[in-house]
Amino acid sequence: MTESLQQSISARTPEMIPVLTKEEIHQKVVSLARQISADYQNDPLLLIAVLKGAFIFLSDLVRQLTIPVEIDFIQLSSYGQSDSSCGEVLFHSDISSDIKDKNIVIVEDIIDTGLTMTKLVEHLQALGPKSVKVCTLIDKYERREIAFKADYICHTVKDGFLVGYGLDYAERYRNLPAIYDLKF
Ligand code: IMP
Ligand code: MG
Repeated sequence: MTESLQQSISARTPEMIPVLTKEEIHQKVVSLARQISADYQNDPLLLIAVLKGAFIFLSDLVRQLTIPVEIDFIQLSSYGQSDSSCGEVLFHSDISSDIKDKNIVIVEDIIDTGLTMTKLVEHLQALGPKSVKVCTLIDKYERREIAFKADYICHTVKDGFLVGYGLDYAERYRNLPAIYDLKF
């Protein structure tokens, strides 16, 4: 293939297949919030959102909860600028709360290989919380490398590369109100 043909292919706008509309996301977030509110009705809860991807999911989720919650953030990455994991999880910034004896629910954008959540749960467990559960917007199961099951799941897909509603490809598409599968 000539260099100019290669460049024109990589510059082509990828196709975006709709996965969830903003109305469908809203319904799913409401139902998940109902479940979490019921489960932690009598138990104080700290939500730890994983930046950057979970920022929109977290902000919609907390506004549907009917229980008091504390919120913290942690910034991790495993992807860099590509669509396949480098297999290494980088901690960019840690939580600022003392989580000892607290109930934690991690709020994540998407679980793929399972490496990021496995490492994060281990990291938090070492700090002595009362409990740690995981809430994910998307559970993408085909490429799982470590058996990992989230406790709260908004939507399950087999494969694809999803963008929108916080999810990015090389930092783009996070601001889209719906979720799409990017086809290159
Ligand atoms: P894992 O460690 O392979 O489970 O990957 C988890 C992280 O990779 C997620 O928190 C996302 O940031 C990123 N990721 C995995 N799949 C996708 C996707 O389809 N779209 C956008 N980001 C993804
Ligand atoms: Mg993420």
